[in-house]
Amino acid sequence: MNNNAKIIDGHAVSKLIYNDIDIKIKMLAKKNIIPGLAVIVVGNDPASKIYVKNKIIACQKYGIFSMKQEFSEDITENELLNFIEKLNINLKIHGILVQLPLPKHINSKKIIEAINPKKDVDGFSPSNIGRLVTNDPLFIPCTPYGILKILENQNIDFKSLEIVVIGTSNIVGKPIAMLMLNKGATVTLCNSKTKNLSLHTKNADIVIVATGKINTINGSMIKQGAIVVDVGINRNKEGKICGDVEFTSASQIASAITPVPGGVGPMTIAMLIYNTVRSAEIQQNLNN
Ligand code: GUN
Repeated sequence: MNNNAKIIDGHAVSKLIYNDIDIKIKMLAKKNIIPGLAVIVVGNDPASKIYVKNKIIACQKYGIFSMKQEFSEDITENELLNFIEKLNINLKIHGILVQLPLPKHINSKKIIEAINPKKDVDGFSPSNIGRLVTNDPLFIPCTPYGILKILENQNIDFKSLEIVVIGTSNIVGKPIAMLMLNKGATVTLCNSKTKNLSLHTKNADIVIVATGKINTINGSMIKQGAIVVDVGINRNKEGKICGDVEFTSASQIASAITPVPGGVGPMTIAMLIYNTVRSAEIQQNLNN
């Protein structure tokens, strides 16, 4: 049976988040507090530079104080650690984000652990991941948080749903699986070694795909009426931006699907700004 899936508009959902952010920023302004975000980027990775630029633009647009620090590829681990230490005690800065990936000579784990967990608006530190696992989150990683907000906006009751997550990164796959588990869903995590991917995806009410690989799944691999969330941002042979899901066939079988671009992407930055504002609130003991 053919149907056409509802295309979930990530921009529309992000607007709802920005409305909430606006209210919070006005409340903070009454107390002379401007939320501040520091973004660090090391080296010349073109994708990282674009992501960081977009994060800074969003800060400017929504009235967040921002500080961008670019370091050359050859910065030492100690220099980076010293810089983070200064940001940890800078009262104007409520959120610290180190854009990943970092050059190979820098131990990313050590850098993430150096960020004060109360300013870790990426939610990547062991303490914040631990709090997510125990269902007591402080900061939820931005892309998984954005996916949760998109799904909640579809009025989904997660209890007893079968959810399959494809991709097990620390940034997306593992935290989104944990979030869904905490909402009462039955969650299956698949990776590149999974023997029969279809066996899992065909049984899922929601499929979340975060592999970074074009055509990871297509319409023949999902259940009629499933919801498909595509986290990938890739370029196809023609140079066009596309996700991890073969959209044309999947949208014939799914009941709803996030497009690329315009689905999960806009939510990641919205949740970063949201986390930064929340951090300012928490540091001022407002609304917590
Ligand atoms: N690299 C890719 N995604 C992210 C993200 O959400 N945060 C950081 N810091 N780096 C990334």
